[in-house]
Amino acid sequence: MNFNAHFDDISENYLFAEVANRTAKYTAAHPDKKILKLGIGDVTLPLAPAVIKAMHEAVDEMSQKQTFRGYGPYEGYDFLRESIKNYYKTFGVSVGMDEIFVSDGAKSDLGNMPDIFSVDDCVLVPDPVYPVYVDSNLMAGRKIIYANATAENGFLPMPDKKVKADIIYMCSPNNPTGAAYDKSQLKEWVDYANSLGAIILYDAAYECFISEERLARSIFQIEGARTCAIEFCSFSKIAGFTGTRCGYTVIPKELVRGGRSANKMWLRRQSTKFNGVPYIVQRGAAAVFTESGMSEINKNIQVYRRNAKLIAGAMEELGVFFTGGKNSPYIWLKCPDNMGSWQFFDYLLSNAQVVGTPGEGFGENGKGFFRLTAFGSEEVTAEAVGRIKNLLK
Ligand code: MLT
Repeated sequence: MNFNAHFDDISENYLFAEVANRTAKYTAAHPDKKILKLGIGDVTLPLAPAVIKAMHEAVDEMSQKQTFRGYGPYEGYDFLRESIKNYYKTFGVSVGMDEIFVSDGAKSDLGNMPDIFSVDDCVLVPDPVYPVYVDSNLMAGRKIIYANATAENGFLPMPDKKVKADIIYMCSPNNPTGAAYDKSQLKEWVDYANSLGAIILYDAAYECFISEERLARSIFQIEGARTCAIEFCSFSKIAGFTGTRCGYTVIPKELVRGGRSANKMWLRRQSTKFNGVPYIVQRGAAAVFTESGMSEINKNIQVYRRNAKLIAGAMEELGVFFTGGKNSPYIWLKCPDNMGSWQFFDYLLSNAQVVGTPGEGFGENGKGFFRLTAFGSEEVTAEAVGRIKNLLK
């Protein structure tokens, strides 16, 4: 018997597990200190009342013989897929219900999608980026090449025609840098992918933070994307579902390679390995797209936007280079005094008891950078910003 030796190619701990371990160690050694966490992008505001109401009603349905539900459809209930389809219409995108797959979150789908690709496919990943893309492909033994995202290109690498990739991961607004592609830049990526016959895996988990018309909410706003893109989205950030778990992935019918349909293969994969999201959770997710649901979640998003503005304003005042914070809940900053990412992590934790995420955990180009999240509560964010200002002034 042999374990998968490709696990030797990934770091011992998942990035956010490592941050949590180090924070727990510090907390144990300093039980008197109040730690403020702006590390993992975990939401802090409760679920919207419309969501809670829908979930309560669904619980009641589960208690009655006539309305009880067992296994649901592998691809999600029609009522939720219909709501998602209508949500896409609000930014001018038409998707078929049979192109939408409901899941327990974008992270799982992003990590599992490679099941339908050949192990010989070459994967292009921006650096720095959300570690799930890299780790899940390394685990499978796939070759990874990187597109450099640096301050010079605004953390938005563009296609290099000399590079031949099969699978291209993109995340916009980006985790961790907060940079977001505009529609013309995305068109270049779509044309590049179509010219190679490559597939773009487009992570749109943060689309609800986009506030400018020139930026894309969905890659399917771009002409030609239906023949080269799969889009991943989530209720986590838009509606506070990080603990409730629900997301969706859109796979156009046109996405066919070598006579094989990505849509059909994904349904085959999901029906083999996944038994759907609980009915109660899907009812809650559908309520997000009702009039009251949308107005309630928008109030929450405004709070996170204000937090982002507060953190970004502090960086400006301190003269610290940063990106993000505008169409994104993340602020990506250059560590002061040329500190390394983990060095700054320790410095901030020991001297201000504020936790952030070291940029180098997102890739080589993240070295010397640091990420703060705007998903903390208003009180914690304000206090953390005050402490950071005191420390770095
Ligand atoms: C992050 O902090 O990057 C995200 O919360 C991780 C995730 O969404 O899984």
